[in-house]
Amino acid sequence: MKVAILGLGYVGFTAACCIASEGHEVIGIDVSARKVRMIREGRAPIVEPRVQELLEAGLAGGLIRADTAIGSHLDDCDLAIVCVGTPSAPDGSHNMGFIADVSRQIAEALRRGGRAAPLTVAYRSTIRPGTTEGLIAPIFRAALGDAADRLVRLVYNPEFLREGSAVEDYFAPPKIVIGTADGQPDPVMARLNAGLRAPVFVTGYREAEITKFIDNSWHAVKVAFANEIGRVCLALGISAGKVHEIFVSDTKLNISPAYLRPGSAFGGSCLPKDVRALQYIAADSGAATPLVDSLLRSNEAHKHRLFEYAAEGLAPGARILLAGLAFKAGTDDLRESPNVDLARKLLNAGFDLRIFDPGIDAEKLVGANLGYAYSHLPMLEALLVDRAAAEAGPWERVIGANATVALLDLPPGTDRRDLHPLP
Ligand SMILES: NC(=O)c1ccc[n+]([C@@H]2O[C@H](COP(=O)([O-])OP(=O)(O)OC[C@H]3O[C@@H](n4cnc5c(N)ncnc54)[C@H](O)[C@@H]3O)[C@@H](O)[C@H]2O)c1
Repeated sequence: MKVAILGLGYVGFTAACCIASEGHEVIGIDVSARKVRMIREGRAPIVEPRVQELLEAGLAGGLIRADTAIGSHLDDCDLAIVCVGTPSAPDGSHNMGFIADVSRQIAEALRRGGRAAPLTVAYRSTIRPGTTEGLIAPIFRAALGDAADRLVRLVYNPEFLREGSAVEDYFAPPKIVIGTADGQPDPVMARLNAGLRAPVFVTGYREAEITKFIDNSWHAVKVAFANEIGRVCLALGISAGKVHEIFVSDTKLNISPAYLRPGSAFGGSCLPKDVRALQYIAADSGAATPLVDSLLRSNEAHKHRLFEYAAEGLAPGARILLAGLAFKAGTDDLRESPNVDLARKLLNAGFDLRIFDPGIDAEKLVGANLGYAYSHLPMLEALLVDRAAAEAGPWERVIGANATVALLDLPPGTDRRDLHPLP
């Protein structure tokens, strides 16, 4: 293939070297005359393991060229990859100026050029969700009019490489994410990535665009959490290294997909209690733990949002069935169950609520569980319905608060809104 790469920084230059090493012809374009001159002279413009040798091999094989302007380079390209910078704007958003500029330049080159087949233009810069549909596509439509669909196929393809191991990561990324207009694969991207070892996800633009922000924020959460635990350990004279070893050895619950699916708030008899206790231990030992301190507030915010989502579009007085009251299906533990809070919020908002949970028998609740249930839902007994009544309805909405909802055989067309997992 012939591939144009726009923006020859860490991402673009690494991609240029790696793609050329796979036998593709690469034309790299950067507005920096200095970078272009260095590449032509065989000097890598970035410091990164292996790129210098890949550049030299690419130049020797006639597979890497560089230029400061697009000119007519796109006329016979199979693919253009955009890797321009998206630096922070003063308000914390990403500055999309370079993305807009380069998109206009590509569109202008396509308008002038004589392409018969559409060009796949893959954006690899990190851009906020909605940018492809809200900024990039309109730029191409404005410049090309009706010919836009004939001349260009837009793809969003986030980059996951890490500086310091960029070449290695290019060939073995953690995943490949391809965002397209219809969520279907793009054959040109499939050809480009044929030699890479990684799971491939083809999705819509927005899911692909948000991936990088989620990944990087998650990595930041991991670092901040690890350091907060490290501070608590230091303060208490506990070995942070040993604690780390024990923590990461647990690939069932700790380093795993467990607890990462959006849906229910956390609750039950352990998590809220022990998070509160860790806050106390940290404060008592003088260790600052702002991330841990934020967990319960974040959970309360989520509970409120779930209530809004559950009740969305319904008028007070609407008949609602809440399927599942315990913090998870198959238990009768109501202590700090977020579903108890949800029921309370729905009742306070004036809905005609009933609850189905085969694990809950109001007469059998004892001890702390009983106290919690009745202090939060004093009318619990009157709200509980059995399975026959739950299935008979009629309900204006059935809320699936946990997996209990799967037990119900609901009439077709039932307005059902599951909170766990979120769609
Ligand atoms: N650096 C990383 O480790 C990394 C990893 C993943 C994703 N990203 C994302 O990839 C994007 C690029 O990052 P980077 O670190 O390579 O940036 P960079 O600043 O090193 O390189 C960007 C290059 O784009 C060039 N450029 C700007 N406007 C241009 C135009 N109109 N035409 C041609 N070239 C133009 C600049 O001269 C510069 O050389 C960013 O969105 C970044 O967030 C970076």
